[in-house]
Amino acid sequence: MKLVLVGFGNLGRGLARTLILKRRTLRSSYGINPRVVAAVDEYGAAVDERGLDLRKLLQVAEKKGSAADYPRKGKKGRSAADVIENVEADVVFELTPTNIRTGEPGLTHLQKAMRAGRHVITSNKGPLVVAFPELDRLARRSGVEFRYSASVGGAVPVIGLARKLLAGNEVRAVRGVLNGTTNYILSRMSKEGTPFDVVLREAQEMGIAEKDPTLDIEGIDAACKITILANALLDRNAKLKDVDVTGISRIKPEVTRLAQETGNAVKLIGVAERDILEVAPKLVPIGHPLAVGGTLNAITLETDLAREISITGFGAGPWETSSALVGDLIDIHRTLGA
Ligand code: HSE
Repeated sequence: MKLVLVGFGNLGRGLARTLILKRRTLRSSYGINPRVVAAVDEYGAAVDERGLDLRKLLQVAEKKGSAADYPRKGKKGRSAADVIENVEADVVFELTPTNIRTGEPGLTHLQKAMRAGRHVITSNKGPLVVAFPELDRLARRSGVEFRYSASVGGAVPVIGLARKLLAGNEVRAVRGVLNGTTNYILSRMSKEGTPFDVVLREAQEMGIAEKDPTLDIEGIDAACKITILANALLDRNAKLKDVDVTGISRIKPEVTRLAQETGNAVKLIGVAERDILEVAPKLVPIGHPLAVGGTLNAITLETDLAREISITGFGAGPWETSSALVGDLIDIHRTLGA
């Protein structure tokens, strides 16, 4: 399979490392021989239709800062749009940073890739909260596969769980702890009464907070994820602006401690139901599947046949995100072979 990586920051590099690590398994267990024919970042691109040497690509990007510094095949200034349209590939990974207002540049990348007949895998929440129905339609019209497991829950395979393992069920509601940063902050505050700003700094140092951490704190990141889940699993036609959002900036350590004394935990919960789309802090009984600590994510699906199913795991980080990205790649391969 010929792959193009658009975005070669933390996630793109994490995926490259995972492809090196999993090369043998992908071949022997799934019959996939992944060949990265291009990697593009904001400075330019490296393109080799016979396949880039991923170790060399990683070395160059880490030392010099860009995939475009790849020897001989790297070119400064070559754009993602140019690569997507002109480099022959089976799958385009869109891994550029999220822009929740315009969805760009990810939105244009996804559209161009689909129109060029490439299957698409993305971790980018921006295009999904701005134009999910449009992208879904375009993928169908273009006859390409479109996967976005990595955009919600990191390693937590909630979309695959609902679509594959719970096939035949109707998902009636989704509730979840969808943001690791706020969950970490709330957990630490309740345990030690540590002030908000101190714990936020810790979360930033752990590398899980958004570049602009108000997106975490004010519940916007969780709102993006609940929008995506509502569209993907409840067949809603939702945009980010439809979500009623309250963040955690006004939660004081006393509140989290008091909650604990009464056998509860304060959690930032996203809810998607037929007529509800919201993110807000809520009391969750300790021991409930959503009362997870630290940076964990947890999601409960309410379905007609299986009733409630809950799933927990790590929602951020390059390896965790790669777990979802590689899973989507294998899934596309299986779908095409079916
Ligand atoms: N800032 C996000 C979080 C990263 O804390 O969960 C994953 O989307």
